[in-house]
Amino acid sequence: MEIKIELTKNPKPKPDQTKLGFGKYMTDHMFIMPYDEGKGWHSPRIVPYAPIPLDPSAMCLHYGQEVFEGLKAYRTEDGRILLFRPDKNMARLNSSNERMCIPLIDEEFAVEAIKSLVKVDADWIPTEPGTSLYIRPFIIAIDPKLGVHPAEHLLFIIILSPVGAYYPEGINPVRIYVENKYVRAVRGGTGYVKTAGNYAASLKAQSEAEKIKYTQVLWLDGVERKYIEEVGTMNVFFKIDDEIITPSLDGATLPGVTRMSAIELLRDWGYKVTERKISIDEVADAGRNGRLKEAFGTGTAAVISPIGELKYGEEVMIINDYKIGEVSQRLYDELTGIQWGRIPDRFGWTVEVK
Ligand code: COI
Repeated sequence: MEIKIELTKNPKPKPDQTKLGFGKYMTDHMFIMPYDEGKGWHSPRIVPYAPIPLDPSAMCLHYGQEVFEGLKAYRTEDGRILLFRPDKNMARLNSSNERMCIPLIDEEFAVEAIKSLVKVDADWIPTEPGTSLYIRPFIIAIDPKLGVHPAEHLLFIIILSPVGAYYPEGINPVRIYVENKYVRAVRGGTGYVKTAGNYAASLKAQSEAEKIKYTQVLWLDGVERKYIEEVGTMNVFFKIDDEIITPSLDGATLPGVTRMSAIELLRDWGYKVTERKISIDEVADAGRNGRLKEAFGTGTAAVISPIGELKYGEEVMIINDYKIGEVSQRLYDELTGIQWGRIPDRFGWTVEVK
């Protein structure tokens, strides 16, 4: 399919690259492609960034039939533009589509659409250290109907946002609240899917944690409230003695692309990495016995985020003395090194936008 391009006549001023924060500014263009039953996905276009007209009865507004993704474009020191494993994000988008009764997209075409849009807005990719262009593909159901049924009309849209660090802490350790009142997901539900409702459901716990100065919450399983699943916007890893443990993907946890990459890197370096059920009590015991050496989160937005403190009920576990751990630092350096083209990409993870 050919992507038609209509360029803006009113380019916006660019924001100050040293004050980007996360997701506050949008670029000049967006990609948009409708789906209509009987016609399939069709008429892909890149157009000036603008509000989209939606019927007030559009199904996504009422029943949350929506999926999204998050990935980044990086500007290298020699001026190239790199994407990090975009094929994995588009494969996950289709896995989300399948669960949410959304028609599958052509993954290779979707990567091409991302590349075309990034090329059009290439002058929005920030160059300050640690900054990048966040790419947000998403699909919404737009049938103007109030019956609860899978939509027959949808929009696939991609927007771009120049970003800095997701957490104000940057790579400094964050404080995490172990959530034992609310749950995020259950097996058989939509926990493994990147869909709006999961994030809406997380807001209450997140804002209660923020009130007591915790950055995010750590979710426990929805049945026994015992096994660790993930942190707000990240997967999570614990180093206990010499083993690095991350919760296995059992349907309630998001299969992160950074998680997958961290596991591959750690194994390549010779660490023992285990994907298995891990309970909060096991982590607390390891903390009490001095065996919990490090904890960190992984995510596209957050990259690698060391965890300096876990609060579980009345117990406060300080991890690695609030310092950035050796494994977290090494992973951060290696991943960001590959992403910004500073070190060789031995795994073929980056895709250049030309
Ligand atoms: C990402 O890391 O890309 C995410 O999806 C987190 C986002 C919800 C801010």
